[in-house]
Amino acid sequence: MAENNADHGYLLDNRQSEAGVRFGALGELFDPVTFRHVDQLGITSGMRCWEVGAGSPSVPLGLAERVGPAGAVVATDIDVSWTRAIDGGVVEVVRHDVAADPPPPGGFDLVHARLVLVHVTDRAEALRRMVQALRPGGWLLLEDADPGLQPLLCPDESGPEQRLANRLRSGFRDLMAARGADLAYGRTLPRLLREAGLEDVRADAYFPITSPACAVLEAATVRQIRPRLVAAGLATEEEIDRHLTNVATGRLDLATAPMISAWGRRP
Ligand SMILES: C[S@@+](CC[C@H](N)C(=O)[O-])C[C@H]1O[C@@H](n2cnc3c(N)ncnc32)[C@H](O)[C@@H]1O
Repeated sequence: MAENNADHGYLLDNRQSEAGVRFGALGELFDPVTFRHVDQLGITSGMRCWEVGAGSPSVPLGLAERVGPAGAVVATDIDVSWTRAIDGGVVEVVRHDVAADPPPPGGFDLVHARLVLVHVTDRAEALRRMVQALRPGGWLLLEDADPGLQPLLCPDESGPEQRLANRLRSGFRDLMAARGADLAYGRTLPRLLREAGLEDVRADAYFPITSPACAVLEAATVRQIRPRLVAAGLATEEEIDRHLTNVATGRLDLATAPMISAWGRRP
């Protein structure tokens, strides 16, 4: 599988070593939420699933467990560095841009994308392609952050450590927005699913108030975007070092943006 060297506007490059750490933390924080929804939707033996922007193996493998050898899971991403090892058998890994490439053929019982669309500039087109890929009666489950609803890394801003943490988080959001991320996207998902013609649309939201995985995610994210934060004048090297030391103490209560899960069925 050839590497894709194009800059798609995605800020957190999967090829950097911190990406593996971030994926582990995202799985720990959000896999239970994702699979609660997947199981509620009745995804089971023999079904066909498309995992969009899979990033890491954890969601495709969890789906493969549910659909079994009679089913199929297509796991796509613009960067398959972390998923190519699980290609084969029930799981097919494909390098694919959800906003630009034709959807995989065959009609899916479930199309799922978690924390992907917020990063995609042409997210309307991506959504259209995902809806197109559903078989009649198939479910689209979209899970995306809404940092505008809960912008703080430390909701309990009780001292200078928390204030610095929140300031750096705000810098990160500026970088994401400058790359075309929509920071109020999550809340729009139910409406967008209805406007796309889906039925039985429902949505809920989840975010941890404190969790060791949030500290792991934060440290890896800040190390990954450090040069960009400094270059944009959003933080100094010294502030970033101080913040990473604060995070490492485990005494900051770190949250994430709310993750909105919205689902609907193709008539
Ligand atoms: C924050 S990660 C989330 C990964 C995984 N879905 C999860 O929740 O753990 C965003 C993923 O979206 C992928 N991505 C970004 N733009 C994409 C696009 N246009 N088409 C497909 N995948 C894309 C990235 O390569 C990355 O793997």
